[in-house]
Amino acid sequence: MKFHITTFGCQMNVHDSDWLTRALESRGWEAADEDEAQVYVLNTCSVRDKPEQKVYSELGRIAAHLRRDEDVFAAVGGCVAQQVGRGFFERFPFVKLVFGSDGIANAPNALERIAEGSDERVALLDFVSIYEERENPEERTVTLSENRQAFVNIMQGCDNFCSYCIVPYTRGRQKSRHPDAVVEECRALVESGVREVTLLGQNVNSFGMDKGGVGVSFADLLYRVAALDGLERLRFTTSHPKDIAPEVIKAFGELTNLCPSLHLPLQAGSDSILKAMRRKYNTKRYLEIVDALKEARPDIALTTDLIVGFPGETEEDFQQTLEMVERVGYESSFSFKYSDRPGVAAVNMEPKVDPQEASERLMRLQTLQNNITRKCLKNLESRETVAFVEGLSRKQDESGTWWKGRDPAGRIINFSMSEINGLVGMMVPVRITEAKKHSLVGERIGTPW
Ligand code: SAH
Ligand code: SF4
Ligand code: F3S
Repeated sequence: MKFHITTFGCQMNVHDSDWLTRALESRGWEAADEDEAQVYVLNTCSVRDKPEQKVYSELGRIAAHLRRDEDVFAAVGGCVAQQVGRGFFERFPFVKLVFGSDGIANAPNALERIAEGSDERVALLDFVSIYEERENPEERTVTLSENRQAFVNIMQGCDNFCSYCIVPYTRGRQKSRHPDAVVEECRALVESGVREVTLLGQNVNSFGMDKGGVGVSFADLLYRVAALDGLERLRFTTSHPKDIAPEVIKAFGELTNLCPSLHLPLQAGSDSILKAMRRKYNTKRYLEIVDALKEARPDIALTTDLIVGFPGETEEDFQQTLEMVERVGYESSFSFKYSDRPGVAAVNMEPKVDPQEASERLMRLQTLQNNITRKCLKNLESRETVAFVEGLSRKQDESGTWWKGRDPAGRIINFSMSEINGLVGMMVPVRITEAKKHSLVGERIGTPW
């Protein structure tokens, strides 16, 4: 069977799609281009209205392929699948399977049954209360591990119920994975040549604080993974400020392979808006964390998520967001216009901000962020660092082959070398020669290893 997976949304979805690809390939299935596929899988995101709408337009496009072959069918997974569920069967008769993030473990078997001709419609939408280990989590194909970077799930779900957010409804309650399983998967990956691991969860700082907990905190887990021989870079995402423990902050000062970057979603710079968002921290507490992090690791690069136009947000509230962005000096940020999601508490909060006004705020915020990003990158000119090579740069010219790598904080560095292959997955010492708008240019100053 030939299959094609399209993925929307966060790292966790990307990682789920990687796993599904491996699980199907281990059954003899083959990943294929859209034109050739017999099975289409959409792994969907519901966090804002836009990505949800994309799912329906994608399904419309897939419907066009059906004319080619009537055995072609589709599966919808991820957060919109969890939200809409069997509703997909009615609107799109060629959708034969829907699965949520907890149901994905059984999706490969269900897809196989349907492909074998079973005429059933399958809905894998039940939530589980304990993290379910998936088959062969660490078994990676050559193409997937070529760049020697890997993502490892440490938990599923979220218990925070921020008032704007649909994730707790689509991913279910928080379930931590057993720390031994996490460490074991990381160990196997590192032994197979992986040099960088990113630990994944909606709220990694509360790892272990649920039914799956066995008295191992997130900080403990970081120390255990960081100790793996051969692991050059360790990252994690996402962190909720309310749960970050002093031990995690300390780890940034002690663990040399823990990368100097942290994504710490602020969402808003006004205390009354943070309260309405149910974020359970205020700006004072947030800044204490930032200062402690900078003290533990002076070169730490902070990034964030921000929402503008949350119900009730005044111009003054918004000004406070701008002030926080300036005060923290984020290297970059993701900013979004508030979007009403079905069933969340903020749907009933008033007054809604005029969409035009929200768009203007978003633009002002992004202009400020671009200026700060530029300054942060400019400060790095002439510094020496190490680029972990991910592949070829998009732009090429006559000066040599341009490669794209990342520094320890995750910034993109493009540099040119005479090698035309063999550099992916290598560490290359470089000096930063120029700061671009969103990336750096460097020159090689040492031997790749
Ligand atoms: N677990 C992560 C966030 C996952 S969602 C965390 O707590 O940091 C990613 C981002 O989408 C959020 O940080 C938030 O900024 C944004 N987001 C979530 N719901 C939204 C909504 N209803 N409208 C606009 N942005 C939203
Ligand atoms: Fe959503 Fe809040 Fe959970 Fe993040 S912590 S996933 S924003 S409810
Ligand atoms: Fe989207 Fe679900 Fe991730 S809503 S952001 S795919 S958890």
